[in-house]
Amino acid sequence: MAQPVVRMRDIVTRFGDKVVHDGISLDVERGEVLAVVGGSGSGKSTLMREMIMLLSPTAGKVEVLGHDVAGISELEALPLRRRIGVMFQHGALFGGQTVLENVGVPLREHTELHDDIVDELAQVKLTLAGLEPRTGALWPNQLSGGMRKRAALARALALDPELLFLDEPSSGLDPLSADALDELILQLRELLGLTVVMITHDMDSLWRAADRVVLLGEGRILGTGSMEELARSNDPDVKRFFSGPRARGAQTGGG
Ligand SMILES: Nc1ncnc2c1ncn2[C@@H]1O[C@H](COP(=O)(O)OP(=O)(O)O)[C@@H](O)[C@H]1O
Ligand SMILES: [Mg+2]
Repeated sequence: MAQPVVRMRDIVTRFGDKVVHDGISLDVERGEVLAVVGGSGSGKSTLMREMIMLLSPTAGKVEVLGHDVAGISELEALPLRRRIGVMFQHGALFGGQTVLENVGVPLREHTELHDDIVDELAQVKLTLAGLEPRTGALWPNQLSGGMRKRAALARALALDPELLFLDEPSSGLDPLSADALDELILQLRELLGLTVVMITHDMDSLWRAADRVVLLGEGRILGTGSMEELARSNDPDVKRFFSGPRARGAQTGGG
């Protein structure tokens, strides 16, 4: 079997007395769209930060693209970071830069390419993310919520990553825009051969886009499987999340 692109073993994460993860083991397989779900504060974003080498767990092992990243130096992490695109929870674009400049940020950070080339590449990514070329000249506050997400996605794709992380990509979007964004993510997965790790609260999005879902809670993985499998599960924790009132509440909840 192919090597997982991310491999986590026995992850423990504590902040002071607070135990966020209490022994989590998880593989992300190449080419899949893996969704991470769980109540607000269940440690989804923290788990993602550990996968993208922004945070070291208190204990446990993390391998990213075949490399053990425990105690990795920033210099060693750099070539791995280039292969990873991230769209953060609040997907913030820099307000003082045009959309095109925003999309070019990772290229300026990681390459020595000339400004003209950076702009051209950024333009291609905007198009890939479904935005019109003229959008590049706008300021972030001139964009609708859906366009802002697409611009943040274009920025996450700037370095042609093989692994894409999305933290709550559809939060704040109306259902039609959320639907379109999921479609786009699936198309890009096909086109670019991406592996996608997506944190979401959005049940529609889970049914539409996720190959596999991991449910976090109480510091553990409470369930994992396709949505079909989880929807049929008799496990009380899984049932509570996917068919109880929280399933509906979670769609509008943040976190
Ligand atoms: N840097 C930090 N310092 C202290 N506590 C943190 C830190 N980051 C996250 N937490 C806490 O860890 C828990 C999980 O947070 P988070 O991963 O953001 O949850 P989720 O994304 O599932 O809503 C929360 O209780 C949060 O307050
Ligand atoms: Mg979060």
